[in-house]
Amino acid sequence: MTDIAKVEEKWSGVDWQAHYRTGWCTFPGLMERVFERLCGSPVGDQREMLQHLVGSQLASGNVHHAGRVQILELGCGQLPLSGHIQLPDLTEGLLDATCMDISQACLDSASKAFTDLHLERQDLNHLDLGGRRFDLCIVAHFAHHIENLGHLFTVIAKALAPTGLLYMNDYIGPRWLHFDKSDLDLGREYLLQIPEEQRRKVDGTIKTYPFAGSTKEALAQTDPSEACRSDEIVPVMLRSFRPASMFGYGTLLYMVLQGIAQNFPDNEDSRSVLDWLWDEECRLLLSGELSPWLLATIGRVV
Ligand SMILES: C[S@@+](CC[C@H](N)C(=O)[O-])C[C@H]1O[C@@H](n2cnc3c(N)ncnc32)[C@H](O)[C@@H]1O
Repeated sequence: MTDIAKVEEKWSGVDWQAHYRTGWCTFPGLMERVFERLCGSPVGDQREMLQHLVGSQLASGNVHHAGRVQILELGCGQLPLSGHIQLPDLTEGLLDATCMDISQACLDSASKAFTDLHLERQDLNHLDLGGRRFDLCIVAHFAHHIENLGHLFTVIAKALAPTGLLYMNDYIGPRWLHFDKSDLDLGREYLLQIPEEQRRKVDGTIKTYPFAGSTKEALAQTDPSEACRSDEIVPVMLRSFRPASMFGYGTLLYMVLQGIAQNFPDNEDSRSVLDWLWDEECRLLLSGELSPWLLATIGRVV
């Protein structure tokens, strides 16, 4: 089983500001496109998308706790998404959010940022909800850290109300980040078409190759939970959940933009880079030349 003390040590020491600043998902407009594909209409950023989901659950009467939406967020990190959900058109106090993580340092920071969340430290390989029921479960960039996937999805499914929703957005690519060299070489061809100045990383060096990839042995030294069964998330999740919507993405985009997204302000030029990479990624995924490394899905219990 995963060395959980090591996992907690790693995530308690993360520089979250840097983590978000250089991450490829922060490229202007990128995630909005993902959420638009997932929901079938423009829903804005992740916070707005979740508000849209919660709002539609409320509007359709799909809440089972005296009109209050019960949210469960797993692997919430330092800035739980639940803390940002606000429903401006509705009376306040309609949400109860329980957010869980293994890192006490993350939970301590979360409690300073948001005072109204219920925060709980658990090793979610052994998720225990003790009979509690929820209307929405949020899994964002977390399931790929879990070895005990069958248990995770079974417990979530049991805890969701019959009309409850799972929102998952997660890495489903190669286990242990052990990427195929042919995929990385293909990513390099696109990367090198970007002007050198926009390929400058925060350490000052120029990015010339997507990244090195990793191995189980290397990750054992840093984060032994990283991508430990990422390639099995989808089949295991599908045993408990029926997707209402599903969108795979983030292979070419990840290879090219990771570590350099901070060089692209929100302007026309950046949008045209995104148009180009987005279209190319869709084409490569459709033809089977690449497989999605990320999956966004909204699902209901089978
Ligand atoms: C990539 S971060 C994602 C954080 C946040 N959901 C986000 O999207 O920014 C992964 C999180 O999973 C947590 N985590 C990893 N393994 C865990 C485990 N076994 N039990 C609970 N939390 C775990 C880490 O502490 C970390 O906060």
